[in-house]
Amino acid sequence: MVKSVLRMGDPRLWQQALPVERFDTPELHALVTDMEDTMHHLDGAGLAAPQIGVGLRVVVFGFEHNPRYPEAGVVPYTVLVNPVLTPIGDAVDEGWEGCLSVPGLRGWVPRWSSLRYTGCDPSGRPIDRTVSGFHARVVQHECDHLDGILYPSRIRDMRRFGFVDELQCSGLLG
Ligand code: NI
Repeated sequence: MVKSVLRMGDPRLWQQALPVERFDTPELHALVTDMEDTMHHLDGAGLAAPQIGVGLRVVVFGFEHNPRYPEAGVVPYTVLVNPVLTPIGDAVDEGWEGCLSVPGLRGWVPRWSSLRYTGCDPSGRPIDRTVSGFHARVVQHECDHLDGILYPSRIRDMRRFGFVDELQCSGLLG
């Protein structure tokens, strides 16, 4: 079912989400279905459970072609429960991000270039991947939601934070 997405200003977005303790339950599968429905309805690249008001450590992300991020490559569709992120090396990339909880805006955000992520799928099967590029960026963005962090708080240069149409007009955003 498509759920409404909380927007920045709602204090539930600042909370630390709790680990999932029981896998392969009807409740967990129903949550994932709601998250998928909501993400696809809004053409999102990803969604975290707290964005629909559920304080559990569950994220979904991935797409073959996303109209919100036409330059991004393919990111495999993934449901990740209780994720743990480990950066690889010190390299940082900066790139444009948006968020369904911060509609209409984009910001220029630094992220680890490469990282390993582990966790489980909703049935409890382990996931262990090493990724870079936009895939790494999306994972970091979504997992930040589980710790109550929204991307604007990671922006270093606030001149590179604004409304999509204004950033396009000024030539900053392609
Ligand atoms: Ni987001």
